[in-house]
Amino acid sequence: MRFTRLQLGVAIAIPYTTQAAQAPLRIPPHSDVDSSILDLRTLWDDLSIRPHANATGNFLFGGVNSLLLHWPNTRYRNGHNIVPGTIPVGTLLYHGRADANMPTMPDWTATDPEHSYHFCGEANWKDRPDAKGCWHLTIVATRPLRVLYLDGSSAANMKDGTLDAQDLLLWGKVDPSRWLDERTRIDNFCAWGRDYGIDGYLRMEMDFEVMLCDFKNGVELVSADYIAAWRARYITPPWGPPRPPDQDLRHCLSSENGTRSLEQHLLRFEMVRAGSWHNHYPGETRVVLDLAHLVSFYDLTLVPSLVAHRAGKARWDHRLQNISASDLVAVNARLKTALTSHSTEIGSGVDWRTLFRVLVDRYADRLEMLEYLLNTTTPANAHERATVIQRQLRVILTPYILYSARPLSDASTSDAWATPVWRACATRHTSHIHMQAATLTTSERLLLSALDETNREICRVVVRMWAAGVHAGLDALLLPHKVEDDSKLSAVVRGWRTDASALMAWLDWSVWVKCRPACGFEEMCYLPTWPYFWETLEDAEDENGEWKRPQPRCIRQLEPYSRL
Ligand SMILES: *[C@@H]1O[C@H](CO)[C@@H](O)[C@H](O)[C@H]1NC(C)=O
Ligand SMILES: *[C@@H]1O[C@H](CO)[C@@H](O)[C@H](O)[C@H]1NC(C)=O
Ligand SMILES: *[C@@H]1O[C@H](CO)[C@@H](O)[C@H](O)[C@H]1NC(C)=O
Ligand SMILES: *[C@@H]1O[C@H](CO)[C@@H](O)[C@H](O)[C@H]1NC(C)=O
Repeated sequence: MRFTRLQLGVAIAIPYTTQAAQAPLRIPPHSDVDSSILDLRTLWDDLSIRPHANATGNFLFGGVNSLLLHWPNTRYRNGHNIVPGTIPVGTLLYHGRADANMPTMPDWTATDPEHSYHFCGEANWKDRPDAKGCWHLTIVATRPLRVLYLDGSSAANMKDGTLDAQDLLLWGKVDPSRWLDERTRIDNFCAWGRDYGIDGYLRMEMDFEVMLCDFKNGVELVSADYIAAWRARYITPPWGPPRPPDQDLRHCLSSENGTRSLEQHLLRFEMVRAGSWHNHYPGETRVVLDLAHLVSFYDLTLVPSLVAHRAGKARWDHRLQNISASDLVAVNARLKTALTSHSTEIGSGVDWRTLFRVLVDRYADRLEMLEYLLNTTTPANAHERATVIQRQLRVILTPYILYSARPLSDASTSDAWATPVWRACATRHTSHIHMQAATLTTSERLLLSALDETNREICRVVVRMWAAGVHAGLDALLLPHKVEDDSKLSAVVRGWRTDASALMAWLDWSVWVKCRPACGFEEMCYLPTWPYFWETLEDAEDENGEWKRPQPRCIRQLEPYSRL
């Protein structure tokens, strides 16, 4: 949304320039990807081989699994995925404005009225400071609306990567000076998508929004209401002299004397609350995604040029700005193919979102429990704990532990006997999909490889941990014996800790990011959200600032409100 101008209640001049359309595209030959990254995934004989350092299966898995979820996309703001989707008939969208009219040009709509209410009345009050209410429009989809979803905090106006994907698609490069160029962005997007019948663009900030291209096509006005409004704007009128578009938003966020009324706190919190309804799976359900036509910047065969720029960087710092020209051409071509082939090339019919979710359901709690058990294992309770942990490891692998899977002898230390368990664990969910590979779209093949790579690593580590326990005599069903030797036992526990923490760090699932201890009834768990984190920041460039690496904390749902 034009948060900068409307939401913040500050007159920022947004230049209305027009931008030349995209240059014609050609599909380049493409084989720069380091094949060792892909080859590693086909070997099954060595449980000690970790995923390739430059592989992206974990990022793809995490990204796909986070689509439409507010929490993980608030945590990792720099989106890497573009997915076509549909908004079903009957879905309501909301729009706050200065009058009762439907917009005549592309404009922003909110999926929740708590969000659009913020924009309601701003212009009224600007021109008529004595106005008591404001205009709030409810709009309905009268046919399925075709949208393109950009993941991450893609509606957050920042110079740090949230807009990379959009600006590459629209303008062919990331230009930090255009971070507030929202009017051009929406106009260019709508012009760009016209050929593909795209009605709008789904983005996310404090909540989800739809940039709607044509209010006369596919939507109807349900109601234009002049509603009573909190006079919750800034205590001193915000519409001072226009500010240059590049001015740091931080200054715009503070009211003039740095205080905020109760109503201001309430409005902000209620918007955050509405966003939080979509925090966790299944997230924002009013948009149905077509994953069979997803395009990802983590696709190694499509975008090999970003490998070098990601190397050694944490997920927070992944950017798209240094993509090569030829990779960008390839991404554009892939996206155009995805958008034109959606009705002819429908794919396998696999419900990818659910399939990805099955893995998270099966392993998230169990791995977290293992971490807890290992965290609380001490020399004093190690004997008892080790047996419990070993039993949990076996439980996780139960469907894959054939009766024949057992070490050849008590004396052997090789875990080669356990590799069939690994392979079974890692391939059961998808072997039937591999048999129908011809029905898969290009995007589905990418999803399949991300799923396989992730599943493979989970199974590798869990099998390795379980086999180590078997060798140590901890498994009740195989070679059990009383472990007398404390140093041997502590070596097993140490190995387990190393393996489990490396796996969880590699997976880095956002379901594990939670408030500990859990929040009280009057509170909710919150991740620092754009743009609020700028407000109290001493130094926006601070590398260690909480806004760079958002960590969860409890905030109050009622007055007295917490700092956001
Ligand atoms: C800030 O401004 C409001 C409204 O003018 C006033 O009520 C409040 O006392 C001021 N606060 C400070 C700290 O000056
Ligand atoms: C990962 O990519 C970087 C940059 O291209 C390269 O320097 C590094 O050697 C790669 N890592 C491995 C394990 O191949
Ligand atoms: C990446 O892009 C940024 C912005 O365009 C530029 O300043 C930087 O030098 C580039 N880095 C590399 C390694 O090319
Ligand atoms: C285990 O300990 C680590 C490090 O202190 C901590 O970050 C993590 O939350 C703990 N996990 C559980 C489940 O207790």
